[in-house]
Amino acid sequence: MKTVNVAIMGIGTVGGGTYEILTENHDLLLKTQGIDFKVKKVLDKDISRIKRFGIPESAFASSIEDIISDDEISVVVETMGGVEPAKTFIEKVLLSGKSIVTANKELIAKHWPSLEQAAKKGKAGLYFEASCVGGVPIIRALQEGLQANNIEKIIGIINGTTNYILTKMTEENMSYAAALKEAQNLGFAEFNPTADVDGFDASYTLSILSSLAFNTCIPITSVYREGITGITVEDIAAGKELGYVIKLLAIGKKNGTDVEVRVHPAFVPVSHPLASVGGSFNAVFVKGDFVDELMFYGRGAGARPTGSAIVSDIVYASKRTSPLYTTFENNGKLDGSVNISGDLTSNFYISVSVKDIPGVLSSIAGIFASNNVSIESVVQKGKDGIAFIRFLTHAAKESEIRRAISEFSELDKSNRVISMIRVLEN
Ligand code: HSE
Repeated sequence: MKTVNVAIMGIGTVGGGTYEILTENHDLLLKTQGIDFKVKKVLDKDISRIKRFGIPESAFASSIEDIISDDEISVVVETMGGVEPAKTFIEKVLLSGKSIVTANKELIAKHWPSLEQAAKKGKAGLYFEASCVGGVPIIRALQEGLQANNIEKIIGIINGTTNYILTKMTEENMSYAAALKEAQNLGFAEFNPTADVDGFDASYTLSILSSLAFNTCIPITSVYREGITGITVEDIAAGKELGYVIKLLAIGKKNGTDVEVRVHPAFVPVSHPLASVGGSFNAVFVKGDFVDELMFYGRGAGARPTGSAIVSDIVYASKRTSPLYTTFENNGKLDGSVNISGDLTSNFYISVSVKDIPGVLSSIAGIFASNNVSIESVVQKGKDGIAFIRFLTHAAKESEIRRAISEFSELDKSNRVISMIRVLEN
């Protein structure tokens, strides 16, 4: 049996969950891992947050230096959130030779190279399982379970807030605004929901996961991003009629040297395993060249699930004889040998409205044909002299779809494009 002394910086929701699991499951960890974990210091600018866990005053840290100078502490948990002062604190801790376990996705996505450099300088470990998909051990799976595979694709529903909103819109016919309000009232969505609904949070996660999956640096700037704010109940209803549900997907694909990384809403066939991931749950679908298809499902946020991921990293950090670093040159730049595809190929759903006059359908079909877009199916409904037409296309280049849409809009000033949504192939 060995004793490992841990410090926690920031004891809010996730830091609190970490403290609870380390104390509630102390004996389990002692029995199964042979490690007696002790929370020796807790740092938080709000003392009342430390007190609510009944932590003795002797464990209150007065500053970051208080933690760094304690030679008995070997692992430091960062659950403060935000970029600063977390970044400065983490770098100081790493340079002092103590390992960091963090849940800070934004920080890893934006500053991973400099943090890893500090870790290498200090011969310390930098672990961040909790930063991606909360309690789902996807990073460990990629690094330790699937390392023998070339990962071909990773497709995730990796933002619980947007999945909750889209599920409410699908199952209860709620408007986007009403579903967002409910998510805010329940504490899923922030007062300013931009990070979630505009896809920033998912793009940070995708940048980290695709870097690990494809063993190359995929900076956030390489990730195409589109959120869910434009999705309407009509889009959801059209999807239902055609056999799809709308999900905010994070998609990473690698084919030779070509890599696609994109976050956007998509029609997901109801038969796809990702279609049944509802509410605030997350899931990551992975395909490796030998293992074939896998899916990881679970809670992507919350005190206890994220605490579970943090403690897994604490155990991991405590057991390794040398720290784990990235398999690729982690310099924040796209590797010259990798080509990020700007012009994506996908099936598309396009809905338009036009004047219901003879020849209108054939003129639209002609525009698609001249732009190399092949139509898979068409549904038309008419009302008051207006035709509402929904197209599903075969796989087409996005540039060709956009050109077709712009030619369609120029054809007649009453022509209107209602929606353009990518379709996930089954
Ligand atoms: N806000 C995120 C979500 C959790 O809704 O899934 C933290 O990344």
